[in-house]
Amino acid sequence: LARALDEAKNKGTDVRALCIINPGNPTGNCFSKETLQQIISFCKKNHLILLSDEVYQTNIYGDRPFISARKVAIEMEGEGDIEIVSFHSISKGLIGECGHRGGYYECHNMDSFVLDQLYKQSSICLCANIPGQVMVGLMCDPPRIGEASYERHQKETAEIWASLKRRADKMQMAFAGMIDVTCNAAAGAMYLFPRIRFPPKLLTHARFLSKEADEVYAMDLLNATGIVNLINQIDIDIL
Ligand SMILES: Cc1ncc(COP(=O)(O)O)c(C=O)c1O
Repeated sequence: LARALDEAKNKGTDVRALCIINPGNPTGNCFSKETLQQIISFCKKNHLILLSDEVYQTNIYGDRPFISARKVAIEMEGEGDIEIVSFHSISKGLIGECGHRGGYYECHNMDSFVLDQLYKQSSICLCANIPGQVMVGLMCDPPRIGEASYERHQKETAEIWASLKRRADKMQMAFAGMIDVTCNAAAGAMYLFPRIRFPPKLLTHARFLSKEADEVYAMDLLNATGIVNLINQIDIDIL
């Protein structure tokens, strides 16, 4: 982070904010409390607003629980008194209702002048779509014990979670069994982030074609299997 900040400043960029995605797209990582504390301290030291995208907070498959940046900052008291914007959405998680378009952001410790501008901007917008708002309400306040839909909601979300976890494990094991490929188990989100080490022969071949090795790999993969991959970023969506 320090290196990225220095490089940006040296290029003349006025760096205002740090954006994190936790659990991570595309890494499938889930930050520990200690990592979040370090990120928050870094923001405080460098006067950065923290933008924390937490749309995958219910996509957790490992032992490490999701912890929001806001919670960690509050627990750090004075040490963590930075401005935070937390984002959440109905697009991911176990709901996955991306077509309904709903989500929210929550400002923590935000400068009151900035908040006034955000309210002003929101107040001149038209109404957000109703199904999206209903979905956000359901996500934030799911059926409670004793309510008619409680059992069904529990069953359906448990099944969706188990299906996502099963596929994450299956893909990770497939990667682990491949030569020159390593891949961490998915801790969260909907992604695996394999590392692929290219043999010298491919590097030579790419130089001969005057192309980057990962571009050659991605195009060869596409032609041989029909699998589309992002060039420069081998990021496999487990969905
Ligand atoms: C990190 C992250 N944030 C947000 C979104 C999408 O959010 P929305 O559909 O609410 O715009 C995605 C979708 O891929 C995502 O990966």
